[in-house]
Amino acid sequence: MVTRPRKDAPQTLSFNTQSVHAGNSHDPGSGAIRTPLVAANSYALPDDPSSVSWSEVDSLFYTRNSGVNQLALQQKLATLERAEDAVVLASGVAALHAMFFTYLKTGDHIIVSDNSYEATWKMFAELLPEKYGITATFVDTSDLDAVRAAFTAQTKIVHTETIANPTTRVADIAALAEIAHEAGALLTVDSTFTPPPLYRPLADGADLVVHSLTKYINGHGDAMGGAVLGRAELIRPIKAQAMVDVGGVISPFNAWMITRGSVTLPLRMRQHLDTAEKVAEFLEQDSRIAYVAYPGRESHPQHELARKQFGGRGFGAMMAFAVDGPPELQNEFVANLKIVTSAVSLGHDETLIVHVGTSGPRVRYYPEPFRTYGHLRLSIGLESADDLIADFAAALDTVCGAPSR
Ligand SMILES: Cc1ncc(COP(=O)(O)O)c(C=O)c1O
Repeated sequence: MVTRPRKDAPQTLSFNTQSVHAGNSHDPGSGAIRTPLVAANSYALPDDPSSVSWSEVDSLFYTRNSGVNQLALQQKLATLERAEDAVVLASGVAALHAMFFTYLKTGDHIIVSDNSYEATWKMFAELLPEKYGITATFVDTSDLDAVRAAFTAQTKIVHTETIANPTTRVADIAALAEIAHEAGALLTVDSTFTPPPLYRPLADGADLVVHSLTKYINGHGDAMGGAVLGRAELIRPIKAQAMVDVGGVISPFNAWMITRGSVTLPLRMRQHLDTAEKVAEFLEQDSRIAYVAYPGRESHPQHELARKQFGGRGFGAMMAFAVDGPPELQNEFVANLKIVTSAVSLGHDETLIVHVGTSGPRVRYYPEPFRTYGHLRLSIGLESADDLIADFAAALDTVCGAPSR
């Protein structure tokens, strides 16, 4: 049972350098300079295995407890997020579930942002209350008084997204951390829309941060994974309970793919953020567009908070908008796009759009004009801004005619 030596990428190095080197190690057997893909599900035991604890995490004997590629990715993510420790799991939802499974039990209460990713919403609207008797209150986490009012004696967690999927509402992480901590609760934050270097919620007081690695951190739309990051004392129980005992482990192949994809994270983020601002500006000034929700626009209700909280580094690359017209027009518009692809997921190299209508249980929590128009959720990729804008303009010309001046 060995723990492999790793090249150090100390916090004093720049984010670009860390993105290349953190977690990587030279393979002692072959001399390969990148951590190889180790598909084995077992590792050689010591001559006397009686000292091995079968529920051990972070040492190499069985891949549900740890593996070469999981360890490399965990170390890399912890470095990039400036967290003491990280656990990687099979998907973003597996990471969310692992965190809630570890820190909630029957009778506990959680305050959840009412604008949350579908699976998070469903976990607390149906699954965990029905199966385990965990209660949840859905709250507009941008209304701090509403958050304070939602606490009960059983509240253990406040959970929010930095930028909400899909409404792009921005949460004030420092304020929420203070409120949660005053009440003895944890603040858990889904930062999938705001990966480093854009933002690090731990620095503003969050206790645990979740990422769907499927999105920006892998960045190429070809692997699934999730991570929870934070203080070592909080991560270790998640590894022990949710990974080793319940088994939501990531495959070595996906961990290796995500480690590889994350090398270019800083370069990709710069391009995503820059292009998103240009596309949002184009859409907002076009008379055929009903509305644009993007934290980088002054029209966004939390624009100032986003500027301050994300330190001027950008506003994310996710937005929602609608063409001024009925649902059929939104579909027609999407069908006429030539470069932008209609698909779920986000944070990929390719720009993705998905039409979400006005029905469904979550829509009543969305602000206007989401409820009236529905929305097109747009994930800006790595294509040039000019090409994307030309694609949108041509589709608008086809379905709406020329813009009014
Ligand atoms: C904000 C957010 N969190 C979590 C997830 C879940 O990630 P995964 O699809 O990797 O399970 C998603 C997926 O879209 C998401 O948008």
